[in-house]
Amino acid sequence: MNALSKEVAEVTRKTGAPATTLPALEAWVAEVAALTQPDAIHWCDGSDEENEALIAKMLTDGTLLKLNERTHPDSYLHRSHPDDVARVEHLTFVCSRNRDDAGPNNPWMAPDEAHAKMDALFDGCMRGRTMYVIPYCMGPIDSPLARCGVEITDSPYVVANMRIMTRMGAAALARIEREGTFVKGLHSTGELDPNRRFIMHFPEELTIKSYGSGYGGNALLGKKCHALRIASWQAREEGWLAEHMLIVGIENPKGETRYIAAAFPSACGKTNLAMLIPPEGYRRDGWKVWTVGDDICWMRPGADGRLYAINPEAGFFGVAPGTSSKSNPNALATIRRNTIFTNVALTADGQPWWEGLDDRVPAFDWRGNAYDSKRGPAAHPNARFTVSARQCPSWTPAAEAAQGVPISAIVFGGRRASLVPLVFQARDWRHGVLVGAAMGSETTAAATGQVGVMRRDPMAMKPFCGYNFADYFAHWLSFDRPGLKLPPIFHVNWFRKGADGRFLWPGFGENMRVLEWILDRAEGRAGAVETPIGHLPRADDLNLDGLDLDGAALQTLLTFDRDGWRAEFDSLGAYLDEFGARMPQALKDEQRRIRELLG
Ligand code: GDP
Ligand code: PGA
Ligand code: MN
Ligand code: MN
Repeated sequence: MNALSKEVAEVTRKTGAPATTLPALEAWVAEVAALTQPDAIHWCDGSDEENEALIAKMLTDGTLLKLNERTHPDSYLHRSHPDDVARVEHLTFVCSRNRDDAGPNNPWMAPDEAHAKMDALFDGCMRGRTMYVIPYCMGPIDSPLARCGVEITDSPYVVANMRIMTRMGAAALARIEREGTFVKGLHSTGELDPNRRFIMHFPEELTIKSYGSGYGGNALLGKKCHALRIASWQAREEGWLAEHMLIVGIENPKGETRYIAAAFPSACGKTNLAMLIPPEGYRRDGWKVWTVGDDICWMRPGADGRLYAINPEAGFFGVAPGTSSKSNPNALATIRRNTIFTNVALTADGQPWWEGLDDRVPAFDWRGNAYDSKRGPAAHPNARFTVSARQCPSWTPAAEAAQGVPISAIVFGGRRASLVPLVFQARDWRHGVLVGAAMGSETTAAATGQVGVMRRDPMAMKPFCGYNFADYFAHWLSFDRPGLKLPPIFHVNWFRKGADGRFLWPGFGENMRVLEWILDRAEGRAGAVETPIGHLPRADDLNLDGLDLDGAALQTLLTFDRDGWRAEFDSLGAYLDEFGARMPQALKDEQRRIRELLG
């Protein structure tokens, strides 16, 4: 044992927590401790006692506020630094050895330069603080599709959130020690200075370094950093897919459950669709909806050639604003206890509140100031809840299935005020990959920057694909091969607006009507008209029983606008060209073929 690891072993003994039998892990922890100089090292075991002690500490130092115990037992509010409320895409780098491997879709920095920059920030940054070592597993602990990592952080808030979002602690450590490999994630909240904030990914080293932010997507390294950016790189090398997708099961009145995987950009409806409650008529007929995952999906072909998916996460990190007993009753039921709220407002009696919840007036805004409606929204538009998935009334044990669930349809979608119809089906896999590559969406509060600006967000992976999009599309195309039984691909848009600026489609539970058409199409049943952009349902092809929707709105939602799509395909062609020779010819050919059909 060298001097450093001896030091670690000593601190570990002092804190009474178990160390590890894996030399590579022990050495890395020692190396990080030598760099960051913590006062103590705590190996997280994931136990209730550990969690309670951490919560007590955070209540004492003000990191957490206790919410009303009667209405929201065991729930807490965390107010972040006001400059640290969302992901920071311009400060999030892929540090591959070869610049082109990161692609024009990612900020890039050379690995040596990035390590030097980060190590300078981490130098001594944990003095006076405790360093937490969090072993975690992304996916069911016994699943061959699951992968493990270890996050080192100086933030107890991160520990408490990782405990909800991942399978964290002793069982994960045991798997890591058995397998010998793990993703290394180093995090410190630092000074929360936006000028000293970076989230760096080293895919070839299975390493993440994140400094200067405590916000979920920047700090809970198992989530976006590992399960999407690093995992997408690994998935390409190993022949699987790591996607920004929810997974939802739809059970029909015959008791058959089919699973849909759907990719929408951040704050565009994944959590809502994952826990949808079908309209009254459907419920009466016996339809049920089951939640497997609401944000990330890892998929790979099974022995029968179908795609099988797991949700690598164990919890939801959901958008609070807009969540109500009308829009998402399942989410509201889920977050009634054991929940960490971040940047929501507070009522006078200590209940969490946000815009869209109900017509009460809060007492304090998300910053903790007395609420004043002239000073902006009470809750931050990207206020979040962190909660165990198992608390969701629609949670299904299928989420624990080691082999995953078979996927019957893949759905892409964006926030598009105009042009894009309610739903259409791609002709085949290649066309579907183009539909995914062509995705555009209006930006949301989930990332810093302007909100409501249209941008390309292929497969909702713009902020999360850990490598060149051209290679990513090629990887998707590579699944089109003999022996695989690929699901059909669809595109939806819940966010089409009328001339008055209001949403034309009621959305939420009513989206069930679109899901039913999608599943029927997947089985070759429901009707459609063929257009150059794909197959669109006619009004008669959808079940609209009991839906109060005027004819003109429906007409707009189901219309194919040839002129508008011509312009869209011209701009898509230019976008694909931005990737140069690396863009797969098959995708360019597909774009050209459809552009010609459009006349
Ligand atoms: P996620 O970040 O992709 O998981 O998105 P969420 O499901 O959390 O939804 C983000 C925001 O979009 C919330 O304010 C929701 O109320 C809103 N939203 C979700 N689904 C729909 C829908 O079908 N129609 C409309 N109009 N809004 C929706
Ligand atoms: P979301 O997840 O997709 O639910 O918004 C967080 C994020 O993408 O930042
Ligand atoms: Mn997300
Ligand atoms: Mn979500």
